Amino acid sequence: MAWLSDRSAGQKTWKICIICGIFLLIFLYTFTTSPTLSSIATDLTDNLYDDYIACAEENAFNEGNIILTSAAPQLGPLRNPSGTLGPNILDNYFVYTSRCRMPAINPFARDALRIFENSTYSSCDKTKALISVSYNETDRRYKLHMNIADIRCCYKKILRDGNGAEADNKFKLWSCKYFQQDFVLPHDMDAIITECRRLKDKKLLQQDAFSFVQPGKHVANRTASIALNIGQSTPAENRPSVLLWGIDSMSRMNFQRTMPQMHKFLRGENWHELQGYNKMGDNTFPNLMAILTGFNNSRSMSVCRPKAVSGMDACPLLWKDYKELGYTTAYAEDWGRFATFNYNKKGFVKPPTDYYPRPLVLAIEKELKKALVSNVPYCVGRRHYAEYIYDYAIQFTKVHKNESTFGMFWTNSFSHNNFSLPSSMDVKMLEYMHSLQRVGIFEKSIVIFFSDHGMRFGPLRNLHSGFLEERMPIFYIWLPNWFKAKYPEFVHNLQLNRNRLTSPYDIHATLKHILQLETPLADLPRPEACSTCHSIFYEVAESRDCSDAGIEDHWCTCHTLKNSSRSEIHIKEIAQQLIAATNAYLQANNLTDICQTLKLSNIESVQRKVSVQPKEFESYLVRYEAKPENALFEASTDWDKRTQLISINVSDISRLDAYSELSKCVDDSIAKKFCICFDMPEPK
Ligand SMILES: *[C@@H]1O[C@H](CO)[C@@H](O)[C@H](O)[C@H]1NC(C)=O
Ligand SMILES: *[C@@H]1O[C@H](CO)[C@@H](O)[C@H](O)[C@H]1NC(C)=O
Ligand SMILES: *[C@@H]1O[C@H](CO)[C@@H](O)[C@H](O)[C@H]1NC(C)=O
Ligand SMILES: *[C@@H]1O[C@H](CO)[C@@H](O)[C@H](O)[C@H]1NC(C)=O
Ligand SMILES: *[C@@H]1O[C@H](CO)[C@@H](O)[C@H](O)[C@H]1NC(C)=O
Ligand SMILES: *[C@@H]1O[C@H](CO)[C@@H](O)[C@H](O)[C@H]1NC(C)=O
Ligand SMILES: *[C@@H]1O[C@H](CO)[C@@H](O)[C@H](O)[C@H]1NC(C)=O
Ligand SMILES: *[C@@H]1O[C@H](CO)[C@@H](O)[C@H](O)[C@H]1NC(C)=O
Ligand SMILES: *[C@@H]1O[C@H](CO)[C@@H](O)[C@H](O)[C@H]1NC(C)=O
Repeated sequence: MAWLSDRSAGQKTWKICIICGIFLLIFLYTFTTSPTLSSIATDLTDNLYDDYIACAEENAFNEGNIILTSAAPQLGPLRNPSGTLGPNILDNYFVYTSRCRMPAINPFARDALRIFENSTYSSCDKTKALISVSYNETDRRYKLHMNIADIRCCYKKILRDGNGAEADNKFKLWSCKYFQQDFVLPHDMDAIITECRRLKDKKLLQQDAFSFVQPGKHVANRTASIALNIGQSTPAENRPSVLLWGIDSMSRMNFQRTMPQMHKFLRGENWHELQGYNKMGDNTFPNLMAILTGFNNSRSMSVCRPKAVSGMDACPLLWKDYKELGYTTAYAEDWGRFATFNYNKKGFVKPPTDYYPRPLVLAIEKELKKALVSNVPYCVGRRHYAEYIYDYAIQFTKVHKNESTFGMFWTNSFSHNNFSLPSSMDVKMLEYMHSLQRVGIFEKSIVIFFSDHGMRFGPLRNLHSGFLEERMPIFYIWLPNWFKAKYPEFVHNLQLNRNRLTSPYDIHATLKHILQLETPLADLPRPEACSTCHSIFYEVAESRDCSDAGIEDHWCTCHTLKNSSRSEIHIKEIAQQLIAATNAYLQANNLTDICQTLKLSNIESVQRKVSVQPKEFESYLVRYEAKPENALFEASTDWDKRTQLISINVSDISRLDAYSELSKCVDDSIAKKFCICFDMPEPK
């Protein structure tokens, strides 16, 4: 409660605000009694909320948001007739509930725009395509067409190859076979690389690559629904297909900033957004695993053993449930080495889904010309890397449009390393949405457009707002019209949940719910790591806090942050102890002979975390630099005044600058954040 002492300045501003608020209310009341003036009254209500917010913001800036927690009761008279919070409160907060205040950051704040490099779509190869592919829906065959005369083209078939540890890393490329005009592809052809040569001198004119979603890979299993032990599975005729469309590292703020067209599209088409969606773990793996398994990271590591050969194959991933119930399944992701289940992991020995175009991804990255942006292959061959994934997604939905499908399509290449780059894909992504519309996907499928987290390093993360940027991924869900008509209460609940705290575990529960829509909430399975999480088609409790949502304190954005002085003596002590904990981790893992010892060089900022409910210990967010290399860290830690000790789990220390080049000598993902390798002689 010590913070109450520095409230007085803010209170004065509040009094002025409340007085003008009362005048406005009287004024308003006079107007609202006259029905003809109701539209003016609406405007005035908005102004009143604006005033309230202006005050709130001023106080926030004066006092680091503290006043908002103590001022909550003042909201009473400002509630609109239905008793809900005014819309403008929610311009400033994604969540404003009794135990969670999640501030909304302005995507167009000056500091972010200063470093944002806007770009537009430009195709990777401006030359005319020499081969085009068509799909005949009647006989379900693909055809290759040569677009100009006087050339000869051949194709190399791409196949999955290798076994055991290498099954997900190897592909086989057949020798190039020439084909006739309008060649009809055999059904066993999943992906090819093509070469076209000029007839007269055999000069290589163009290389390209194509994938084909060949029908019939899914084998139905009628006994499965019984074995799945589902109370009452959704009858086949009411079964929505599910399409997960994911962009790595995309926060709500950065989405609005970099993809305005897409943002407008989703709003205009009435997609449902979860504005209080908070990541549950550090990077892609834990967050996607929470969705796909309902496990927390330690359970994901121990049950699914991603670093062991076949570990992931035995993992109870959600798409298996879908498959057992007769859904055709697909999963595709770009950026071979860094894909979710492959980066520092062993991937899958057997294809995890009916359709799994990883061989294509490996082959194009190796065989075709590449253009890197920020160290990631951005253009591969004639297309943007992500387009191979999206083209596959469109084909998958088109070829199986009469069947129930579950597909997850994930891209890293234009968003992972450079927060500005998604701007270059905005218009293109919208085109893909229109393609989905043309195929009729939105009439039958539930579509989820989402991310795993925000930017975790680099200039955007380094801004003052970086703490929130990292923790608030986008989440949008589309429901087909028939579904909305059949389950109006689910739609109502989704609207309520828009501004409630939610987590990836809720999404896991939702995807399970879709398989048994007639089962009441009480009988639905709960995610293993979060028994208080549930389907977002049911109302999320107003009183929810991060622990109820399965979100560890370090990742929680429900606190308000208050700037604190860097010069206080205990702050230096906290930073020293954080460095000591890091060095102790390196030592405990026997890494001190390859990693340098870190030394505190600068405390960049300190913020006190203030919860709606006061906590036993003071809690700080500290951003500090260490030598060598001025490595930049951020940690949230409790401080026990009595013992003068911090409590920290080093896995909760974030590294904010890019470190992959400096930490090449270690494999462990936690050690990588702390290890500045000693210079090593180049391998011979
Ligand atoms: C807190 O400090 C940071 C710089 O460390 C500054 O950018 C920010 O505006 C400050 N916030 C408030 C509310 O004073
Ligand atoms: C980026 O460029 C697009 C297209 O020119 C424009 O519509 C958008 O407003 C720009 N974004 C920002 C933040 O300036
Ligand atoms: C598609 O295939 C059917 C059956 O083989 C054929 O009759 C039809 O002409 C084909 N359509 C196109 C556009 O090629
Ligand atoms: C069908 O499902 C059952 C129950 O999950 C399983 O034991 C069996 O192996 C499956 N059969 C096929 C052909 O996949
Ligand atoms: C889908 O079903 C419709 C009507 O049942 C049928 O006309 C159409 O040919 C089917 N399409 C495919 C790709 O199977
Ligand atoms: C990031 O992407 C932008 C395009 O939006 C580009 O202008 C910029 O050079 C890229 N930054 C780096 C470091 O490659
Ligand atoms: C992870 O979840 C399991 C239950 O599934 C629980 O026992 C364990 O304590 C959790 N671990 C952490 C670090 O939260
Ligand atoms: C630590 O590493 C060194 C060399 O890398 C090795 O010789 C030593 O046995 C290791 N010690 C422990 C306790 O693992
Ligand atoms: C630190 O957190 C990790 C991941 O959540 C967990 O596995 C580990 O047991 C924790 N360590 C301690 C000492 O609490």
